[in-house]
Amino acid sequence: MSKPQQIRLDRLLANLGYGSRREVQNMARYRRITLDGAELRDIEQRVPLSAEFAARLQIDAEPLDPLPGLALMLNKPEGVTCSHKESGPLVYSLLPDRWQYRDPPISTIGRLDKDTSGLLLLTDDGAFLHKVISPRAKIAKTYIAGLARPLRGDETGVFASGALMLEGEDKPLAPAHLEILTPQEASLTITEGRYHQVRRMFAALGNHVTTLRRIKIGGLSLPGDLASGELRILDAGARAQIFAPEHSGTHFAQVPPAPSGAM
Ligand code: URA
Repeated sequence: MSKPQQIRLDRLLANLGYGSRREVQNMARYRRITLDGAELRDIEQRVPLSAEFAARLQIDAEPLDPLPGLALMLNKPEGVTCSHKESGPLVYSLLPDRWQYRDPPISTIGRLDKDTSGLLLLTDDGAFLHKVISPRAKIAKTYIAGLARPLRGDETGVFASGALMLEGEDKPLAPAHLEILTPQEASLTITEGRYHQVRRMFAALGNHVTTLRRIKIGGLSLPGDLASGELRILDAGARAQIFAPEHSGTHFAQVPPAPSGAM
């Protein structure tokens, strides 16, 4: 097994959002940091960047925040935005305060519209992000759409055809799978991520999406017990589910309580 990377402890804590290097030095001076329960004063020492070492550290008697390499799922509420360009609260405001100061920063894996709710993934791991959003991965995403008008009946065939052209585009959409749930509600699974794709697909057939919720990415479903606005950390099993559509199960760790003090 390869040895874990080493990092200066003050840099690690600063990168996790605990404060500037000077601030975390003061935290050590004020005896707020412990290793195996004993006060840790040498904040400049190099330490292994490993979960095993992190588990031995505490700040203000609380476990250390998750190390870089974090992947999360959020049950995104309507009305919060994934983009700095849009008005309104950002999804990042739903993260524990300190996580908003992490380096590398946490960003969303793809986007949901402000008015779309449901399963949104976030990560600080660039390689993981690219693996999920890569068009080559063709990861299926499933949405539940509420519609302004009853379905006509031809939507399933049109969406599955691979011939539907969205307004202003010159390449037809890849085949998509529609399941009619009620006359004005359907589940739609797509493998692309074009701008406002689901809304535009129904608009192309003369309908209008009134509510939209994403319930699945690859084989990873939005858990029924994840309340709107809540986050969960994805462990290796949950991450693998994203790329394994057949598999389902639960592999989540609870997000620790919002950090207190120490900012
Ligand atoms: N398609 C949409 O139209 N909006 C979303 O948020 C996601 C997919």
